[in-house]
Amino acid sequence: MDVTFRIRRLNPEIPGKDKPYWQEFKLSDVEPTDRVLEMLHRIKWEQDGTLAFRRSCAHGVCGSDAMRINGVNRLACKVLVKDLGTKIQVEPILGLPVLKDLIVDMEPFFAHYRQVMPFFVNDTPLPEDGRERLQSPQDRERFDDTTKCILCACCTTACPSFWANGSYVGPAAIVQAHRFIFDSRDQAAADRLDILAEPDGVWRCRTIFNCTPACPREIEITKAIGEVKLAIMRGSPEGIIQVQDIQHEA
Ligand code: SF4
Ligand code: F3S
Ligand code: FES
Repeated sequence: MDVTFRIRRLNPEIPGKDKPYWQEFKLSDVEPTDRVLEMLHRIKWEQDGTLAFRRSCAHGVCGSDAMRINGVNRLACKVLVKDLGTKIQVEPILGLPVLKDLIVDMEPFFAHYRQVMPFFVNDTPLPEDGRERLQSPQDRERFDDTTKCILCACCTTACPSFWANGSYVGPAAIVQAHRFIFDSRDQAAADRLDILAEPDGVWRCRTIFNCTPACPREIEITKAIGEVKLAIMRGSPEGIIQVQDIQHEA
């Protein structure tokens, strides 16, 4: 089948191409099961070697090829042509500065990630028998969903609150904070909740819900954000999502 790609381009080093513009590329012999990433490679290797985009694993693991494809944030390596049709529009994810073509500056995104202390904190000595810090399956389950994040930025760059105010930490950073806040072995939950209680923390989330369907890992992002909000209101991650408690308090 023939497929037309319409790609948003920009090259700050070339006069005349230093403002965003659209360019079309036609590809023939495309299989319905081809992925968008493979097609971008064909364009780059067969038609225009200057086309710039990030990718690494090509298997939905590294999170480096987030793009806005037919108006929706996706990983180019996970989207099949048959799910998009014969006209495919590709542009950079929104809300971050474009460096070149489909490549955005991820530094503001990772600055928010660093803000929430995305690392394990426990200063007590390890058990003397040399074993790991153990945890019950139930305690592990509590943050299982948010361990799946690959930091692709599909969620944060789909969030209108982030578009409106880039100082909002964004859903990806909250997901990362959630992973540690609800880990029974970690000791810095209170610090993270204080950080996220600041004006640019979780309260900038207006529950718009764009983030959850944008996640290629199918993480229940809005639910995780809600759990963090509740933990802040209660002053602790303990006892969250006890619906009967909420009903009693209401
Ligand atoms: Fe990507 Fe999902 Fe992580 Fe957001 S939560 S950065 S969409 S993997
Ligand atoms: Fe944004 Fe998701 Fe909240 S889209 S407003 S972070 S529910
Ligand atoms: Fe690694 Fe797509 S290239 S997730």
